[in-house]
Amino acid sequence: MQQHTLGGKVALVTGSTSGVGRATALSFAREGASVVVINGRDAEAGERVRRDLAARVPGTAFHFVRADMNRREEIAALFERTAELGGGLDLFVHSGYGGSGLPDLFESLSIEQKEDAITAIFTSLVRCCHYAVPLLRARGGGAIVGVISDAAKVPTPGESVHGGALAGSGMFMRGLAREVGRYQIRVNAVCPSLIRETRNYDKVMDGGFARQLFQKIEKRATLGLPGPEDLANLITFLAGPLAAHITGQMVSINGGISGA
Ligand SMILES: NC(=O)c1ccc[n+]([C@@H]2O[C@H](COP(=O)([O-])OP(=O)(O)OC[C@H]3O[C@@H](n4cnc5c(N)ncnc54)[C@H](OP(=O)(O)O)[C@@H]3O)[C@@H](O)[C@H]2O)c1
Repeated sequence: MQQHTLGGKVALVTGSTSGVGRATALSFAREGASVVVINGRDAEAGERVRRDLAARVPGTAFHFVRADMNRREEIAALFERTAELGGGLDLFVHSGYGGSGLPDLFESLSIEQKEDAITAIFTSLVRCCHYAVPLLRARGGGAIVGVISDAAKVPTPGESVHGGALAGSGMFMRGLAREVGRYQIRVNAVCPSLIRETRNYDKVMDGGFARQLFQKIEKRATLGLPGPEDLANLITFLAGPLAAHITGQMVSINGGISGA
């Protein structure tokens, strides 16, 4: 019989009513997670996705908890509720950062858009980890995986603010990994460039500067663009026992777009 790598684990995946987060929640359940908490801002969509996932993997208890990643008090309540629902937390994935703006040239972004990108990308991750670490520590260990981007590694025109915030996220995770290894907590990041079949893909391809930028980038994906399931496979690997000795890494998954 096939062994489930995440048997009995309690997981929280933020931004998981769509795209990478949703695929990750499903993958964790298929690997045996006993409780998977999904999250987003739209409660109706959340309940729809929760029902769909529960029908696909009846052995896993799925819960939807609404929280906006831009609001500290909602993040705190999300972790508190997750710990109640699961009796603790073993695995935390930060996906779907909730930035409202698209990549654009520095001079074209308003000061509000710049600050919004930093809060959505960097501050939300730090806040989530603030609440995740004590819960993982209380279980004697666990794993954190952040979905960031190759923009954290490769400077690109139009991504100075996004890339800067993402690079901050990457270095934050690497530093955190060094601190919490003593508690058997591993911290890693996955770095896509462009992911097909996601809302983000549709948004950046909708027009303007972002479309020009990403159309060029897409042509470089000699292996084809990864989809949400490809990201989910990598995240599941990093969250599970096969990656027991991997921490503090930023793993690129970009179909050959760059050697980031
Ligand atoms: N797709 C790409 O091409 C690409 C490229 C590089 C990096 N990434 C990164 O990969 C991650 C996942 O992207 P994706 O394209 O798979 O996502 P997606 O399909 O756009 O889905 C985003 C998810 O996040 C939720 N969300 C958005 N804003 C939120 C907020 N403020 N608070 C809580 N939840 C929020 C959405 O639900 P609600 O709208 O209901 O809140 C949805 O569940 C993101 O961190 C993104 O930056 C994606």
